[in-house]
Amino acid sequence: MCGIVGYLGEEQACPILIKGLHRLEYRGYDSSGVAIINAKGDLNVYKAKGKVSALEESIKEKDTTGTIGIAHTRWATHGEPNAINAHPHYSESKNLALVHNGIIENYKSLRTEMEKNNMTFCSQTDTEVLVQLVEYMMNTHNCDMYTAVQLALKNVIGAYAIAILDKSHPDQLVCARKGSPLIIGLGKSANGRAEFFLGSDATPIIEYTNKVIYLQDEEIAIMDRSGHIDITNLSNVKQTPQLVTLQMNLDQLEKGGYPHFMLKEIWEQPNALRTCIRGRLNMADKDVLLSGILDHKEKFLNCNRIIICACGTSWHSALIGKYFIEEAAQIPVEVEYASEFRYRNPVIYPNDIVIAVSQSGETADTLAAIQLAKSKGAFLYGICNVIGSSIARATDSGTYLHVGPEIGVASTKAFTGQVITLALLGLAIAKEKKTLSDEMFHMLVNELQQIPDKMQWTLEHNKNIDQFAQMFTYCKNFIYLGRGYNYPVALEGALKLKEISYIHAEGYPAAEMKHGPIALIDEEMPVVVIAPKRGMYEKVVSNIQEIKSRKGKIISVVTEGDTVVRDMSDYCFVIPDTRDCFVPLLAVIPLQLLSYYVAIAKGRNVDQPRNLAKSVTVE
Ligand code: F6R
Repeated sequence: MCGIVGYLGEEQACPILIKGLHRLEYRGYDSSGVAIINAKGDLNVYKAKGKVSALEESIKEKDTTGTIGIAHTRWATHGEPNAINAHPHYSESKNLALVHNGIIENYKSLRTEMEKNNMTFCSQTDTEVLVQLVEYMMNTHNCDMYTAVQLALKNVIGAYAIAILDKSHPDQLVCARKGSPLIIGLGKSANGRAEFFLGSDATPIIEYTNKVIYLQDEEIAIMDRSGHIDITNLSNVKQTPQLVTLQMNLDQLEKGGYPHFMLKEIWEQPNALRTCIRGRLNMADKDVLLSGILDHKEKFLNCNRIIICACGTSWHSALIGKYFIEEAAQIPVEVEYASEFRYRNPVIYPNDIVIAVSQSGETADTLAAIQLAKSKGAFLYGICNVIGSSIARATDSGTYLHVGPEIGVASTKAFTGQVITLALLGLAIAKEKKTLSDEMFHMLVNELQQIPDKMQWTLEHNKNIDQFAQMFTYCKNFIYLGRGYNYPVALEGALKLKEISYIHAEGYPAAEMKHGPIALIDEEMPVVVIAPKRGMYEKVVSNIQEIKSRKGKIISVVTEGDTVVRDMSDYCFVIPDTRDCFVPLLAVIPLQLLSYYVAIAKGRNVDQPRNLAKSVTVE
């Protein structure tokens, strides 16, 4: 949600920090700030409300020199978004400055305790409580900052990724994590001297180095200018870090000529899915190879039930996965909102497999849901995009999407990546369980292989959606309808429109309309119907008739060559024919484009919609 950047080395820190903040802005964007220690030893903190550009503007005339610094972009949890509540936060003496991602749950009691000792606070944030607590520990235990951080964190309940500067040690950078991710990049400056980078994800680091350490829960790291790094746990026991090479390049983090990341990521889908299925669909042998399944074959053969936990768009793809796995592999699948699952007392049987679906791999509710499932003995499988993410590391096995970094806040290529990965998973289990005939299995493998090309076709044939998106800007509501595999697509289409255009939209199973929602239909109501010439086509045609006779405006997604639904529609998007179970991969594309162009026509910032953040690392 929020983003952290840090630098210690030979270069001027400020440009590196600001560039890093821009790269992290997709994670949260209501305020930002930097803290830098200059050559004289001053610890300067500058903050601004709004986007990183506002901070950049506000520091133009300020002293931002110095080769050590930390910075933060915020998505407010405690305290309104303003410059006072923005990070970094000073300690009372202004000797320390700290940035923080996560939530300190017991911050109120900690604050009351310190107030009793006459300490004063200037913000409403849990973060200020943390930096004050570190200073309090330094004063009461007469210890250095590193030891004080260990002591302070032992008293903290909640999640954190933090980075701290101490004015009296301008050559040292300290950071720690629990629950929120933090990555340390190990680089070399132009003259060959060691330098360190910090990032709440890899995006601010990759430009400088691909050698990183993923800090583990309850680890604290101290880095110094000589290139030395020490990592301990909260009890001061030395830890051995693992150096990892990032598989990411800078181009993936740039817009590449597109006006927005969202549009770039929509158009990237054919190639992203080609990468996702590469090596997993073996066309020579007509086979599906998922090492995550093969390594745990017995688990999947003996499993009686699969529970998928996810949130938002990932929940929608999970629903499509449920339909496919049940159909192909004949295993009952339940799909749970992770935020609900984690607070129930769900029944987990010894042979259950719990799958977490998450683009970021950091969603707090999904992580907590699988931790609960693990405590009840479930085998955990992760389907994540971000390599090395918390969910990927917390699961027993899994499959990465490999669709490349998704920067646009509205998820697009991760959705189709998740759907195709769940299809691969369903096919891999079906093969082991022999629940599909060879003929059907080969046909599905063949069809899946063609999906990226059919996606490209769909994009090319729907690129003029921008020409009529303008007509919908006056709309206050939209309804999206689909049946079977396309019901979750209706949910996803509605979510996309809501989150970036701020138009209210609801998705329903088409047949549910007559049980209530049909009362909403009048000549003002656009109804988007996914009506491929597959599955329950005739029934969907009847549902369209019911809406038309109440004067609703029909926007349909139809199979190429269909004239029946086309003639009934006010607007029509065409997709190529494919198997029923793979229609979502194509049908979602015009819906993504529709939401994008309606939002653009309404003048919205599609990459950074209001109130949203890319990864929801708080409850
Ligand atoms: C919508 C969107 C969110 C995420 C949800 C889960 O476009 O992006 O609904 O899908 O916050 O995030 P992940 O998949 O990272 O767990």
